[in-house]
Parts: sequence; structure tokens; C-alpha cells
Amino acid sequence: MRDELLSPSGDDDERGEEERDEHGLRPQSLDDFVGQEQLKGHLRVMMTAARNREQPIGHMLFAGPPGLGKTTLAGIIANEMGATMHVTSGPALEKGGDLAAILTKLEDGDVLFIDEIHRLARPVEEVLYPAMEDFQLDLVLGKGPAARTMRLPVARFTLVGATTRTGLITGPLRDRFDYPARLDYYEPDELRSIVLRAAGILDVAIDEDGAGEIALRSRGTPRISNRLLRQVRDFAEVERDGIITKDVARDGLEFFGVDTRGLDKSTRALLMALCGMFEGGPVGLKTLSISVSEPVETVEDVYEPYLIQQGFLIRTPKGRVATVAAWQHLGMTAPGSSPDTGDPPGLFD
Ligand SMILES: Nc1ncnc2c1ncn2[C@@H]1O[C@H](COP(=O)(O)OP(=O)(O)O)[C@@H](O)[C@H]1O
Ligand SMILES: [Mg+2]
Repeated sequence: MRDELLSPSGDDDERGEEERDEHGLRPQSLDDFVGQEQLKGHLRVMMTAARNREQPIGHMLFAGPPGLGKTTLAGIIANEMGATMHVTSGPALEKGGDLAAILTKLEDGDVLFIDEIHRLARPVEEVLYPAMEDFQLDLVLGKGPAARTMRLPVARFTLVGATTRTGLITGPLRDRFDYPARLDYYEPDELRSIVLRAAGILDVAIDEDGAGEIALRSRGTPRISNRLLRQVRDFAEVERDGIITKDVARDGLEFFGVDTRGLDKSTRALLMALCGMFEGGPVGLKTLSISVSEPVETVEDVYEPYLIQQGFLIRTPKGRVATVAAWQHLGMTAPGSSPDTGDPPGLFD
């Protein structure tokens, strides 16, 4: 597989650095990709059928929170189809012409990966439709009443789109994908396999329970598993004998501020703000985001999905609300509930 970074998006440098670190850990084949069994089953069938027909596989849309394997899957598809992958992203394509330039360079069977496809500008989307549907490019020549359109053929490519926000994808775009898929958070035993696999590649000494502890605190997310593994490895090397056991993992994670449910400092800060400053809500998303100095999108796409999945936060029409579990997790008392003193309730309570 040849990765061609056509137009790197400028606004995620932080992630870019991690992506480089991650490079060696990224599974290259479906067999190395842990979990998401149903999705993998579908992909296997679709890829085999396409190969037998000697046709490119249909357009795919992968939706789900960051770090669950969307980019990885795009690479695997290209790899297993023996295709070249071209990478770009929604925000990087400013004008229809930017996309047209990429499309005309594609060859039959190539995979075009568009990350953050929900951020495509409307005129760019308009260029994409006929390309996805009919492998045609409609060029508008001239302006006003004298304008003419010209159709150009485009190679038979496969579009793989990734998004953290299915809700923001327009109907016409969504309808043009042959296979829309949702990636879910991973189970602890799947994450443990991912940690053990990564430890093998990074040559880190770890036992099953050590990996299990990291898995439990990874917020259901392989990218976080890999990050925590690296942090715990550093801790084990500097503060312990270099071997990651359950105790070493627990101490290392605590050292780096990751709590028992995997909440890191910023996620905890968000929950603390909701429970403390806003007394459990309901509070509007904007207000909540401002209170922790985070962009609204980050709160909505990165922090909230896991807090919701863990039953710490709910979205209501009036705003965000903390659950009893959130108060308990923070060791705080929910207003209205009697403080837990350990004493039996009094007669008149
Ligand atoms: N199913 C998986 N099995 C093993 N490793 C995975 C899996 N999914 C993701 N990863 C690891 O997590 C990292 C982040 O995945 P990525 O595909 O970049 O997520 P996304 O594009 O959804 O944000 C990858 O580099 C890879 O090392
Ligand atoms: Mg990605």
C-alpha cells in the first residue's frame, strides 16, 4: 500500500504526531484488526466478491468516535485489494476544483480516503456525487448564461469516508455510499488483545493482567490503549523493574492521572464542572464547553460519547445532565439525595 498524503489538514497537528507514533501499530490486514467482528465479516465478503468480479469494492462510510479504527480500516481495504490509497480530508478540500484535481489523478481500483467527510463544503460535495455514482466529473466552464458543463470520465475508484458525526452528513451524500458502517467502542477483552499485540510490536514486557488493567481504563478506544501502554511502559522502566504487571499498570495509570473508569484529567474536569459548577445540569453544551475551555466539537465528539456510554451523562432537550453514577464516581453527593454517611436513615428522614 502506498499512502499519498495529498493535502494534509492543518488543524490537527497534535493528532498528526500521534499518528506517526502509531504507524507501526496500525494493523495492515483484516486478520490483525481486533474486534468489530460483524463489520469484518461483511468486509471479507464484499472484498472477495469484488476481487472475483475484478471490480473495485463499493463506497464505504465509517462512522464513530475518534480512535476506533476508521483510518486503519481504510488502509486495510486498500492493502487487501492491492490498491493505492489517496488520503485527504473534508476541511482540506476548499473548492470543487481541489477535489476535481484529485479525482482526475485516480487510477482504476484506487481507494480515496476522505477523513472528516462531514466537513466537506457543499460545492465540493456537488463534485463528489457524479464521481461516486457514475464515475463522471461535471466541469462548469465559464460563468452566467454562457456557462457550459463538460463531463469527464473518472477512474473506477472506491471512496472510503470517515466521520465522527453521522448526523452531520447530508442525506444525498449518505445515500451514495454502498455500505455505511458504525464502529462501536471495544470490549475490555478486545482491548486487552490490542494491548498485548502492541506490546509485542513495541517489545514491552507485560503480563495478561497488566494488559487487562490498561484495557479497562482505555475508554473503549484502541488509540487510547496504545497511548496508555506507552505511558505505563515509561513508568515501568523508570519507577519499577520494567515489567508491566497489574500493580505496575495500576500505579502507572494513577501516576498519569487516568482514573479507574479511564477518565483522564480533561474528561474528569468536564464531569466536575457539570456536577460542581452547574450542580448536575441541565446545562447547555456551549456553556459547558466554555467552562472547560474546550471547543464544542471536542466536547461533543470526544468526551461526551464515552461519558454517555458509561452512563455518567445524558443529553436532554434542556441540556446536559449528570447521572447519579457520575456523582458517585467523583465521590460527590448528588443534590436531593441524602448524604451517604453510612448510618441507617433516621425515623423522620
Ligand atoms: N481493531 C483494532 N485492532 C488493533 N489496533 C487498532 C484497532 N483499531 C484501531 N487500532 C489502533 O488504534 C489506532 C487509531 O486508529 P485509527 O484508525 O487511526 O482511528 P480513527 O481513524 O477511527 O480515529 C491505530 O493506529 C491502531 O494502532
Ligand atoms: Mg482517523
